Amino acid sequence: MVVGASSGIGRSVAQQLAARGDHLVLMARAQGRLTEVTGECERQGAASAQACPVDVTDAGAVDAAMAAVRSRHGRIDAVVHSAGVVAYGRFDAVPAAVWDGVLRTNVLGAANVARSVLPDMRALDHGTLVLVGSLLGEIAVPDMSAYVVSKWAVRALGRELQLDNRDRPGVHVSVVSPGGVDTPIYAQAANYVGRDVRPPPPVYAPDTVAAAVVDAVDRPRKRVAVGVANAVIRLGFTVTPSLYDVLVGPLFTALAKGRSPVAATTGNVLAPLPGSEAVGGGHGFALWAVTKDLGVALGRALLGHHDPTGPEPVAPAVTKETQP
Ligand SMILES: NC(=O)c1ccc[n+]([C@@H]2O[C@H](COP(=O)([O-])OP(=O)(O)OC[C@H]3O[C@@H](n4cnc5c(N)ncnc54)[C@H](OP(=O)(O)O)[C@@H]3O)[C@@H](O)[C@H]2O)c1
Repeated sequence: MVVGASSGIGRSVAQQLAARGDHLVLMARAQGRLTEVTGECERQGAASAQACPVDVTDAGAVDAAMAAVRSRHGRIDAVVHSAGVVAYGRFDAVPAAVWDGVLRTNVLGAANVARSVLPDMRALDHGTLVLVGSLLGEIAVPDMSAYVVSKWAVRALGRELQLDNRDRPGVHVSVVSPGGVDTPIYAQAANYVGRDVRPPPPVYAPDTVAAAVVDAVDRPRKRVAVGVANAVIRLGFTVTPSLYDVLVGPLFTALAKGRSPVAATTGNVLAPLPGSEAVGGGHGFALWAVTKDLGVALGRALLGHHDPTGPEPVAPAVTKETQP
């Protein structure tokens, strides 16, 4: 079962599992895109592929969907929880409904899925749950409070579930934590920073992260990091917090925000966005541009200058939203 299968990492996981002939159940909110991915998976060799449109924030709907899957397939061997949404903006600029919405999908959604599948897995002493976390579940960056809090919580949820299920050696819980991945999540983010956003380098292809997720399904490990820079960034955050705090603002602005203006939007946090999603997000890696931005940002940070390309301050919470 792949939750969040209609786009990005989840869609690539579904394709990779299909190619080896697995039975698949695919979940996300928007029915149209799920049907499209189901067709893709059938063509790629899935033993079966079933679209299951569900909003993970609705615990009753998650339970009903899982019950239907069990009655059709008998048991659920593995669940990949890749559903996620993101909001950019200073804490006081992000409307409460959007901030809470990120937590509801990323944290309560993961808990709803876990609560729905673990009792059967425990009864059978068989099954694997893979939660897709993030490097941002181990560090902090500015303008992403809801997402960062949610990903720390996903990591904590994974650890708690690992401890709670130590008495069932056949039940495994893994947390896979990628750095920047080139997916549509940036284009559909809730945005209150006034500028477009992008994955910070080094940017990984969704297929690379999906391969790590599939590997975690086959060879469960408690924690899997995807990204060469993750360990270094984590070390800086933990060991030199004062230097980290000086550098992270300018670096994040240079590397994770673009220059195109963007009107305040709730993105796909409260409801799926229309339009076709894909696996990749189209964020190419322009080495020279990023290196230049990085050099300028580092220079400014170390000289204590303000970033003049930073966004105009967004009026707190009363910002006019562009609800899709
Ligand atoms: N991209 C990155 O740089 C990156 C880095 C680290 C971690 N991650 C994590 O990786 C996971 C996948 O991200 P991605 O980049 O692949 O994002 P994505 O391309 O935007 O895909 C997100 C998927 O989640 C589904 N979804 C969103 N809200 C949902 C809800 N309430 N109920 C059910 N499904 C929902 C979406 O479909 P609908 O909108 O139709 O529901 C879509 O299928 C997320 O947990 C994200 O936090 C991403």
